[in-house]
Amino acid sequence: MKIIQLTDPHLVPSGSLLRGIDPQARLRACLSEIEIYHSDAAALVISGDVTDRADRASYELFRDVVAEFCLPPLHITVGNHDHRSVFGAIFPEHLAADGYAHSRFDLQDHVGLLLDTWAVGTHGGAFDPMRLEWLRTQLAESDKPVLMFMHHAPVKVGLKRLDQIALQGEDELWDVIAPFSSRIRHMFFGHMHRNVAGSWRGIPFTVAAGLTHQVMLDFQTDIVRHIEVEPYFSIILVNGRDVVVHPHAIRDAKIIDIIPDTTRPSCSP
Ligand SMILES: [Fe+2]
Ligand SMILES: [Fe+2]
Repeated sequence: MKIIQLTDPHLVPSGSLLRGIDPQARLRACLSEIEIYHSDAAALVISGDVTDRADRASYELFRDVVAEFCLPPLHITVGNHDHRSVFGAIFPEHLAADGYAHSRFDLQDHVGLLLDTWAVGTHGGAFDPMRLEWLRTQLAESDKPVLMFMHHAPVKVGLKRLDQIALQGEDELWDVIAPFSSRIRHMFFGHMHRNVAGSWRGIPFTVAAGLTHQVMLDFQTDIVRHIEVEPYFSIILVNGRDVVVHPHAIRDAKIIDIIPDTTRPSCSP
């Protein structure tokens, strides 16, 4: 089974740039590659910071760009640069009945859980009791192995600024997860604007760097220096035994030729 994680598009209105970067162009480039090479994926997960300023025009742009491509089933949540109500006005199908941008979806013999870590007034994420109870219910309702996606990570990674804006309430989250931790095969995060991997309390995790600016590696200070690098998305391969994550920079290789040649796939209904 293949899953694509794409995070932190940080879209801005058409015609504008973000720190000299064109998020729309990067999104199109990634979606084009996903359409051509990964239409067999079981899911395309967008793990938050859909827009940079949570404005309606940027959400509408994201909706319109995504609609241009034949993509795997799409699952979207919000990050700290989003606003749930503006997001929900454009993507009502990605809000649950309780108003949160969380969802549970089938991934063949696995369950996918996409969590909503958005919290008002902070760049760090947080869960409230309602969301933690939702998570507990989802974990209890199935015996299947779980792949969990969310914007903020509960783990501290040793980079001061990123650790300041990590998920708050790590212990409360663990209290919910702990009884089910043996079934959680992997956790996938965004938000850090860096590729990071490790384990959190024994659960393997991967952070995807995302589409736009990255954060320079600095273990000494909490000064943020944004840097321009290639846009990344992750190709996740899962079987009954192993999970493999390929962080993929879409400008890291030039295709010299294609044998046999490929043609653009047609969208199936
Ligand atoms: Fe972000
Ligand atoms: Fe973020």
